[in-house]
Amino acid sequence: MSFEKSILITGGAGFIGSHVVRLFVTQYPQYQTVNLDKLTYAGNLENLKDIDSLPNYVFEHGDIVDEAYIDGLFAKYQFDGVIHLAAESHVDRSITDPMAFVKTNVIGTCNLLNAAKNTWKGNMESKRFYHVSTDEVYGELHDPSEFFVETTSYDPRSPYSASKASSDHFVRAYHNTYGLPVVVSNCSNNYGPNHFPEKLIPLMINNIKNGKPLPVYGKGENVRDWLYVIDHARAIDAIFHNGKNGDTYNIGGNNEWKNLDLVHLLCDLMDQKLGNPQGKSKELITYVTDRAGHDLRYAIDATKLMTELGWNPSVTFEEGLSKTVDWYLNNWDWIENITSGDYQKYYSSMYENKTS
Ligand code: NAD
Ligand code: DAU
Repeated sequence: MSFEKSILITGGAGFIGSHVVRLFVTQYPQYQTVNLDKLTYAGNLENLKDIDSLPNYVFEHGDIVDEAYIDGLFAKYQFDGVIHLAAESHVDRSITDPMAFVKTNVIGTCNLLNAAKNTWKGNMESKRFYHVSTDEVYGELHDPSEFFVETTSYDPRSPYSASKASSDHFVRAYHNTYGLPVVVSNCSNNYGPNHFPEKLIPLMINNIKNGKPLPVYGKGENVRDWLYVIDHARAIDAIFHNGKNGDTYNIGGNNEWKNLDLVHLLCDLMDQKLGNPQGKSKELITYVTDRAGHDLRYAIDATKLMTELGWNPSVTFEEGLSKTVDWYLNNWDWIENITSGDYQKYYSSMYENKTS
């Protein structure tokens, strides 16, 4: 079978990556979409079982830190485009094991950049290297009238955000130095189906369902800007196809929530869906020791993406959260499979004896 383009998506078995892979495989049958994933604890091929037999989809099991492997993969497929999502993504894990983040997020990204540069040398015209990054590289906000824009100075404050900031700098350096055709996006917090239950929203859904304590860090006053994962995938599609070479786009939902308010909302929604008396789940809220170096507030100004590329979120937060809770309740075996193994060890080391 011959294809118009061959696209490499890294980290496609993870939370956001699986939604991006599904969008590309189903909307662009003329592209061959190659999903490269190491299948770490966060990678799960179950996320893609509905599309994995389509003829334009290929899965490759491998590690972006393995330079020779990455060079071989580029030689095999002669990719026209790369959408790079593979990463260590959890801030708490970066506090206990920062080197894993240096290896995958920095060295892994540089291996991909080198392979693209060498493969596309002398023929960069219709090529594109898309690096998916985070709003956390901008640091934290205090003044409620301030938002992160594309020109906000970098100020990463956790090992995770420092590793992502470093990779962003390398991507832009390869554009400036070698003319690599790159595009970067920095997105706010995602939520939705297939979100690994170490992160706030799925962790709370899982604990509410199981009647376990709901661990709120500090006083629950930190603010995050939540975006439905499918809207992030739609933004990536728009930027990959129509973004300007060398540019950066901020992606966000204009949807800020204090953690405690969000946990209250989830408790009410879960009580309603589970048929519990209202107020039952809120009794599970437990304040625990704060995250070290916990950033206070993130908030994205996505005006550039909306005005230049015509992107807008497709769902309200209420709709997205309701769909998300329904997805978890209707796919409970997905979360049970994940939480039955090593997750238990992680959970005990993170949360036991941490009540503040
Ligand atoms: P995730 O942890 O759910 O998935 C990461 C995927 O990368 C997994 O499938 C994992 O197996 C794979 N992976 C990890 N190390 C690898 C390696 N060395 N080689 C190959 N594959 C490897 O992450 P996510 O939440 O889906 O985030 C995806 C990307 O989006 C990341 O780059 C993250 O920084 C960025 N991002 C995430 C959010 C968010 O709210 N989750 C927001 C903005 C940006
Ligand atoms: O902003 C984008 C980033 O959002 C992404 O780059 C990261 O990959 C992604 O993990 C996410 O980072 P956060 O640290 O904001 O997400 P997390 O779900 O871990 O935490 C959200 C907020 O909830 C944060 O203020 C910490 C708090 N929290 C989290 C957990 C897991 C709790 O209060 N209790 C918890 O148990």
